[in-house]
Amino acid sequence: MRILLVIITFIVSLGAATVVKVDEKFQTSDKCQACHMPIVQEWEKSQHAKSHYKNDEYFRASIDYISKKTRKSLNSVKIECATCHNPRISVTGTSESYEIIAAMNLDKDSAVNKAVNSDSINEGINCAVCHNIDKIHTNKDESARGMNRVKWMKSGIMAGPYKDANSPYHKTQYRDFMDTNSDKLCFVCHANDKSVKGLVFTDMLSEYKKGKKSCVDCHMGPRKTGAASTLPIDNGKPKKREVRKHGFEGAHVFSMWKDALDIKLTQKKDNIIIVISNPQPHNIPSGFGARELIVDVTYKNGVKEIKNKRISLTTHYTRRGGRPTIPHAAEKASEDMSIPANGEKVFKVPNVKGAKSIKVELYYRLVNDEVRSILKLKDKIWAKESLVAAKKIRLK
Ligand code: HEC
Ligand code: HEC
Ligand code: HEC
Ligand code: HEC
Ligand code: HEC
Repeated sequence: MRILLVIITFIVSLGAATVVKVDEKFQTSDKCQACHMPIVQEWEKSQHAKSHYKNDEYFRASIDYISKKTRKSLNSVKIECATCHNPRISVTGTSESYEIIAAMNLDKDSAVNKAVNSDSINEGINCAVCHNIDKIHTNKDESARGMNRVKWMKSGIMAGPYKDANSPYHKTQYRDFMDTNSDKLCFVCHANDKSVKGLVFTDMLSEYKKGKKSCVDCHMGPRKTGAASTLPIDNGKPKKREVRKHGFEGAHVFSMWKDALDIKLTQKKDNIIIVISNPQPHNIPSGFGARELIVDVTYKNGVKEIKNKRISLTTHYTRRGGRPTIPHAAEKASEDMSIPANGEKVFKVPNVKGAKSIKVELYYRLVNDEVRSILKLKDKIWAKESLVAAKKIRLK
């Protein structure tokens, strides 16, 4: 019996993350400002900086909803999601007995409650996440992500892209996942996102068709000459370095959507064939469930609009009994409607009598109608339609 217990504990601890305390000097981005101000300002605008319960309405509403539906305490759900959204949290799991204490509202002074509400993690994915990774365990099971896929550095060492960096504030160490092998860093979290029922609803890793560019080339921009630190360490001037931007611009930055996909239109007798192709190395939409593409088709006779038709390309999620739900609470997903990486999808719409031309516009939306209404999301950003591409042809 005791041997069995030892084995069980061993197996469990293999999967669990080891917490390494971050010294207060390095916990939050304000500690880096004095010497890395431009980087801190870019990062502050990124979704990484918003990935905390307080700072993202959609994330917060999802956690509240899951807690209600699974009858788990809010803190337990927050800790589950922290695996990727707040990986420096100091508690990595909760027990059955915690659930009982929490249900009686007696958990105020518990380690769990303190960890969840600590100021040290309310910046979400900050500097002390990416730059404190020592090793990435690529040999672990595919489902081990976020904090479960990494070994943390000793506090006070910054992993970076340079072999010869020297800082008076912290030690530095070169890592290839900050340089030539950076996709590996992104896939620590951007892979294998699953629901509480075990349904993998997005897996950027399995859909990825690696080309010449890495994630950072498109989402941090190309390397350009600048300075890594504003500190005058090179004969009274900041040292010149090849640097990237820390904005991690993606789906929430509407200007990024322009021409992310292409449209081709052809007429075949009584039908119009719409080909949507995706030059990017991952599916679109991807990254998160409930994102949506809208194909807006307008038939015209001269300037007069005869008919308008909208096709929604999104995934619907269901829980027990087939009821609609959000990706994170889902048992099942409908057909994947995304445009595959470096691939295309073909649609056919019938011609309409009297139409002389047809215009097709393609829009992207962060959250589809169904999930917006389930979560009662209020901010306008979730429903905003960003124009991706548009095409027009004359009809015969
Ligand atoms: C999501 C991960 C991530 C986060 C969060 C992050 N960085 Fe980086 N950082 C990187 C990567 C990747 C590089 C290497 C870029 C390259 O290829 O040159 C980098 C490079 C750097 C460099 C070297 C100069 C440069 O721009 O290449 C400095 C300095 C730096 N980061 C500081 C910070 C600070 C300060 C913060 C917090 C405000 C931060 N980083 C947050 C991933 C991250
Ligand atoms: C007192 C100034 C100072 C402070 C404060 C500071 N740094 Fe630095 N940091 C530097 C200098 C100087 C370099 C080296 C720049 C170079 O060699 O071009 C550097 C380099 C780096 C690098 C690149 C390391 C490498 O090997 O590639 C990272 C990453 C980094 N700092 C992160 C941080 C983070 C995160 C914080 C806040 C917790 C921080 N720094 C606070 C001065 C500072
Ligand atoms: C520790 C986990 C983690 C790592 C490592 C990480 N990310 Fe993220 N990333 C996230 C999470 C979580 C979000 C969503 C935060 C939110 O919206 O609340 C996100 C958001 C993003 C977004 C914004 C997407 C959108 O919908 O607007 C981009 C772009 C992005 N990450 C790129 C990268 C790149 C490139 C790397 C590698 C250099 C990387 N990330 C590394 C967890 C991570
Ligand atoms: C060749 C450029 C390119 C590369 C390489 C690339 N992306 Fe993207 N990515 C885009 C474009 C374009 C979009 C759509 C517009 C936007 O959101 O920025 C996008 C969208 C995203 C989104 C939002 C997806 C959605 O549908 O909501 C995430 C998250 C993301 N990328 C992460 C990554 C990660 C992680 C990698 C590496 C594994 C990566 N990207 C590699 C160009 C690229
Ligand atoms: C395996 C790592 C991982 C785990 C665990 C995880 N997430 Fe995420 N989450 C991500 C990444 C990466 C993104 C960014 C993808 C994108 O924006 O396209 C993201 C984005 C999101 C978004 C979209 C935010 C926005 O602003 O659009 C929501 C909502 C979300 N996650 C909810 C949750 C909830 C709730 C949990 C816990 C039940 C959770 N996540 C656990 C990796 C994870």
